[in-house]
Amino acid sequence: MPKNIGILTAGGDSPGLNAAIRGIGKASMEAYDMNIIGFKDGFRGLMENRFIRLEGSILSGILTLGGTILGTSRDKPHKMNVGNKVLDMTDVIVENYHKNYLDVLVCLGGGGTLKNAHRLSQRGLNVITLPKTIDNDVAMTDVTFGFDTALGIATEAVDRLHSTAHSHHRILVVEIMGHHAGWLALGAGIAGGADVILIPEIPYNIDKIADAICRRSKSGKHFSIVAVSEGAMPIETAMLLEIAEQKKKEAKTEEEIKAAQIEVKKLQATQINHTMDIAQKLEKMCKLEARVTILGYLQRGGTPSASDRILATRLGTACATFIENDHYGILVAAQGEYAVPVPLAEAVGKTKLVPVDHPWVESARLVGTCLGDM
Ligand code: F6P
Repeated sequence: MPKNIGILTAGGDSPGLNAAIRGIGKASMEAYDMNIIGFKDGFRGLMENRFIRLEGSILSGILTLGGTILGTSRDKPHKMNVGNKVLDMTDVIVENYHKNYLDVLVCLGGGGTLKNAHRLSQRGLNVITLPKTIDNDVAMTDVTFGFDTALGIATEAVDRLHSTAHSHHRILVVEIMGHHAGWLALGAGIAGGADVILIPEIPYNIDKIADAICRRSKSGKHFSIVAVSEGAMPIETAMLLEIAEQKKKEAKTEEEIKAAQIEVKKLQATQINHTMDIAQKLEKMCKLEARVTILGYLQRGGTPSASDRILATRLGTACATFIENDHYGILVAAQGEYAVPVPLAEAVGKTKLVPVDHPWVESARLVGTCLGDM
């Protein structure tokens, strides 16, 4: 009997998703004679049993396309908005899996998708995940597809900001995505030659940043580029957040849990507009005009880089081979040249942050980049 594969893309879209869909689809149909359907809009489509057959013509011409031909959403099986209620729809999802005689469900996503996939595998479904996100924060894989493309876009932006910053003698503060991880800002900051790079893993002190910019001014360089990861925060907030998170972990009563949650939310709210805040402070402290550029969704859009196309194709085709060998309950991770099956339980709930002694961090410091802490 040919095997039946169901596939979905969940979470924020990422360049390389279509290349991965194509890789799984072509290998599973052409090399292994399997059937494949694609659920629309992430876990919501699986819950509503909305799918398309991924036949040859649909898989042609999508290698270079950005986004996902299947559509995506941030819906979670166990907490889904239905009508005006939030319901646990896991049973319906399990039912639809069986109704379609699936042998496996392949979920293309980041850390959140991995959690949802792991929950479904605990409910007895055969599940495989592939690591996609521009944030590059999935544990147990060297890299995620989407990261290289976003890195290229963010780097080009930092490059381009140089000439206008230089011409106007300004500080240009550029906000780069990454959620709680600094890979994208650090990578683009190094590649684009930013003078200051701020990442969540290294809380910053605004005085140190101002010192670095003033030193540049004194040496005749009356402009600076500051690359700020969206999750970067000042040392004071980082310390308070650590205490609040600790309280949340130790909370025993409902009241204590609620109070700790409110505290964490309040602190996180102080971070809204933090890039603007940095620019305003630096403008005053360094006596140079400052401007902000928020790259936003530009970083996720458009055609994937060659490197992401290769990564997505090799993980997608490896996924089909794991299915052929009945190897389920895994994340297909990129480790060196290989696609390695990592048990979902080992990868779930872990975020791959930038180690503070990572070689990229060391190199940035050695070329004189200020990381906001010294
Ligand atoms: O996880 C990818 C990502 O692009 C993050 O870098 C960013 O914080 C988030 O998604 C934005 O998500 P949304 O699409 O929900 O606005």
